[in-house]
Amino acid sequence: MSAADQIFAMLRESSQSGAPLYLQLRKSIEEAVNRGLIGPGDALPSERDIASKADISRVTVRKAVQDLVKGGVLVQRHGSGTFVAPRMERVEQSLSRLTSFTEDMARRGMSVRSVWLDRGLYAPSPDEMMVLGLSSTELVARVARLRIANDTPLAIERAALSASVLPDPEAIGSSLYAALGTTGNRPVRAVQRISATNLGDADARLLEVPSGVAGLQIERISYLASGKVIEFTRSVYRGDAYDFVAELRLTGPGEEIRP
Ligand code: GLP
Repeated sequence: MSAADQIFAMLRESSQSGAPLYLQLRKSIEEAVNRGLIGPGDALPSERDIASKADISRVTVRKAVQDLVKGGVLVQRHGSGTFVAPRMERVEQSLSRLTSFTEDMARRGMSVRSVWLDRGLYAPSPDEMMVLGLSSTELVARVARLRIANDTPLAIERAALSASVLPDPEAIGSSLYAALGTTGNRPVRAVQRISATNLGDADARLLEVPSGVAGLQIERISYLASGKVIEFTRSVYRGDAYDFVAELRLTGPGEEIRP
């Protein structure tokens, strides 16, 4: 069956539901995509074809299609039509190792690049003063980057460090951890907090996803062996790109199970 036939078959199934036509059509297309009846990259029939075959107005078709474009299910390419959105290859990330973005991607054979959003020395915010243990007369080094792997923007990372460990944020190359390593300041331990978020307009635009879609907010506070906090990073990751995986054990190392 062609992509068009799959959609119309779905539409016939839902036509008894009494829901507004555009919702029925939207659901039919979504169902066809979710069930894998039409796959990533497949072209959708033209607005005119859908309208005449399903006997609904073009305005109704357009409304359903626009909703699905906004939701990231379909993509529109100027001049060539509407397609099922390509599926993102998800990155599986262990939560037990303190690695850098560059190392994580290199291990997967992915190329990494970053777009600088900000780097410089600033008066610290109250949060930064508290976490990094800075006084109001000290400066904070901020390094904000859009992190891109294999040409797909995956995360926005905003790191804050004491200016005493990173006096020249302009000088770090492609990896913050590599730069910290050269001065013996690479963190050895970190606490990471992950929470759900809906991406705001500006972050969504940078990550090339529709505004409001699900993302992961990640806060990492990293420590040196001495116990000193070295890094306070707040990041936003694309929700459709990352799986964070934690290994769980019944007992901790050296612990016994108590009855
Ligand atoms: C990870 C962490 C960040 C850390 C970054 C360093 O992505 N979430 O907290 O700052 O790695 O990566 P790189 O050394 O590639 O700059």
